[in-house]
Amino acid sequence: MESYIIESNKKKSRIPARLDLAQSGSGLILGLFMWVHMLLVGSVILGKGSFNFVAKTMEFSFLSNTGQGFPIAVFFAVLTIFTLFIVHALLGVRKFPISWKQHRIMRDQMQMMNHMDTNLWYIQVVTGFLMFFLGSVHLYIMLTHPGSIDPYLSADRVVSGNMWFLYLILLICVELHGTIGIYRLCMKWGWFAGKDARASRKKLKLMKNRLTIFFLSIGVLALLVFIVIGIGHKDRVGQRYETHAAVQTIQAETPAVEEAHPVTVEEPAVEEAHPVTVEEPAVETAHPVAMEEPGVEKPGVEEAHPVAEESNGTEAVHPAVEEVHPVDTAHDSAKPVEETH
Ligand code: HEM
Repeated sequence: MESYIIESNKKKSRIPARLDLAQSGSGLILGLFMWVHMLLVGSVILGKGSFNFVAKTMEFSFLSNTGQGFPIAVFFAVLTIFTLFIVHALLGVRKFPISWKQHRIMRDQMQMMNHMDTNLWYIQVVTGFLMFFLGSVHLYIMLTHPGSIDPYLSADRVVSGNMWFLYLILLICVELHGTIGIYRLCMKWGWFAGKDARASRKKLKLMKNRLTIFFLSIGVLALLVFIVIGIGHKDRVGQRYETHAAVQTIQAETPAVEEAHPVTVEEPAVEEAHPVTVEEPAVETAHPVAMEEPGVEKPGVEEAHPVAEESNGTEAVHPAVEEVHPVDTAHDSAKPVEETH
């Protein structure tokens, strides 16, 4: 039994190496995703229209007849990234200094060696720890609101949803963690290693610093743009960009419509001026009067009811008809309406 335990202990497990490989792979995908993600989100710097175009394209709006797109596509993208994010974090936790004692030993060694790459590894541990919470909040919101990526809705989330602070901290963590991670992957697996290892390391480090500054600048600028849009949109929180654009188009077109078709504005006046329909019953009650008092002129009634004319037997009623009947006056005022139509 004893010899079995000794023998089995001697056997090297492949699992740690496989877990390492899985961590490198998931880290690489997430790191590259974050660069693309930053460029897509950064499109807001070019304007609300650019961001809306990117968001709609991500929803495959070009495949739908209505142009509405399919937010479910974003849902599945977020689900994939979220799963990868959790797997990557779980694999990373293995390497965390989990007790105070381990932490002290590591800090002491870092101070003693003052080795840049070891310091970078520590930054990764700290930023990774923070990202686990901050990234989860962001990803959960995206997962449950896949159709809410829009210049106004995103800006509302940043300002009115108070996400700006979380995004700022998350942004710093992501940019440090991502670029350090990819740099360390290159060192670990020997990617881009030239003949002179020292010179390659220096080059890669320079590249890493430039990429961090580049993506951090895009992120900060994008965040500022979201903040400016969000502050301006505070009184219309929840209103989509397209709806807003449509309203603006209608508003821009309305004066022209009113000029050409005064119907909408003058409609009530026209209706008021047409008492024909309203007064119809009164016209009917006027019949007996006309018959009982043939001498009395009943203008208006006559024109509407030639019967009354027959009973009167007079033509003199006619001129008065036009004076009294407000229809004609109304029509006069409404005439341009008919002409413009
Ligand atoms: C498929 C997955 C993801 C989608 C669809 C997504 C989408 C977005 C969108 C639309 C914004 C703009 C603000 C908003 O609408 O709330 C944003 C901002 C941000 N996201 Fe993501 N995100 C994803 C994954 C991640 C991950 C994994 C991280 C890092 C852990 C991350 C970090 C950030 C940061 C830091 C910002 C703020 C950027 C800035 O404006 O400076 N995102 N994301």
